[in-house]
Amino acid sequence: MTLEYINNELSVNGHGINSIVKEYGTPLFVYDENMIRSQCRRYHRVLKEEELDYSISYASKAFTSVQMVKLLREENMKLDVVSQGELYTALKAGFDAADIHFHGNNKTTEEVEYALASGIGLIVVDALDEVELIDSIATENIDVLLRINPGVDVDTHEFIQTGQEDSKFGLSIHNGSALEAVNAIRESRHLNFRGIHYHLGSQLSAESPFINALEAVYKWLSEYSIDIEVLNMGGGYGVKYIESDTRFPIEEAFKNITERLRNLSETHNMPLPHVMIEPGRSIAAEAGTTIYEVGVIKEIPGLSKYVSINGGMSDHLRTPLYGAEYAVVPVNKTGAENIETHVVGKLCESGDIIGRQLNVPYNLKRGDLLAVKTTGAYHYSMASNYNQMTKPAVVFVNDESVRTVIKRQSLDQLIENDVF
Ligand code: LLP
Repeated sequence: MTLEYINNELSVNGHGINSIVKEYGTPLFVYDENMIRSQCRRYHRVLKEEELDYSISYASKAFTSVQMVKLLREENMKLDVVSQGELYTALKAGFDAADIHFHGNNKTTEEVEYALASGIGLIVVDALDEVELIDSIATENIDVLLRINPGVDVDTHEFIQTGQEDSKFGLSIHNGSALEAVNAIRESRHLNFRGIHYHLGSQLSAESPFINALEAVYKWLSEYSIDIEVLNMGGGYGVKYIESDTRFPIEEAFKNITERLRNLSETHNMPLPHVMIEPGRSIAAEAGTTIYEVGVIKEIPGLSKYVSINGGMSDHLRTPLYGAEYAVVPVNKTGAENIETHVVGKLCESGDIIGRQLNVPYNLKRGDLLAVKTTGAYHYSMASNYNQMTKPAVVFVNDESVRTVIKRQSLDQLIENDVF
């Protein structure tokens, strides 16, 4: 059971959305907890089947909270954090710092101090300058990976491509800078070089960039006789937002990626490394749905129709930012025919849209509930208080219960840091 209609009412794991909304209000992020868990288990199963020495670190940036972190712990996941705030959240949730690794293209001195003091397991060095920064702060040895840039092009939105040569992330294996950083790490007092990391981009639907990256990386490792114990291939495994999207084929792709990794290791006479991956979106996205209430409906004769909902770019930024497309469905099915209409937010920008010409029932009216599917990743985590909107509540739904994960932000919290 997951997101489905039961007696014409949208339900999550058997719990009707109407009663959930009665208790929690809207806008509301509703997560199918079973689905988050089953995605974690799926990655474990796949990598275990490939008989790899592996670990799976969830990319916190997709969606994090204390309850999410606790769930991830229960599912034997490790964590990837990119800021002091993500690390703080994880530690507050009781996550073992040794199972966390720290990313970021510009870690601040304060962040490095905080990470080292917390006993973080691993830091991913993103620039030459960071070798010195970390070494000057560390008082004991710290394991590091080097974020390299393999120079692989990927087919995804420009903003979420990261493995190409011209990028703010990592160090190129083609212009000598990655090699320079490896040497600097080896010469440092406290940094212990464990291996490399790369992240090619996000929302990728095919295995080919991962295979291309392996080829490029092993050529480089072998050319400069660099031994690695850990190979972190990042995240980026794509999900299905709308019918025409292709999900990253996890099972098949990891079979092929592993096969290539084994071949390359053998060819270059290197031991098979510990493989790390960092899925974010593919763990959380499809488990999440946002529920909104319909307000104003405006028809411009001969032009178009606008259905406005009680949220917008403050909790749904991916459409304004990337032109991302979503499926929107009514919470209560009436059997009415669908018509094409724009579904828009309530924030003061024309770009504040959920989707253009979406199919929704022609008889929608004020007070009806709409569900926007596949909003579990990069929605709550990218939410803002633009227009002094309060952040929505988040609930997890499993077979037994609906529970609060994040309370709705209050008006008082909106101004709690204001000086009177
Ligand atoms: N590892 C690293 C180093 C990353 O930079 C990212 C995502 C991930 C893992 C997780 O990637 P995923 O499996 O979630 O695709 N706000 C954008 C996505 C930005 C992704 C940034 N890095 C969006 O809404 O599409």
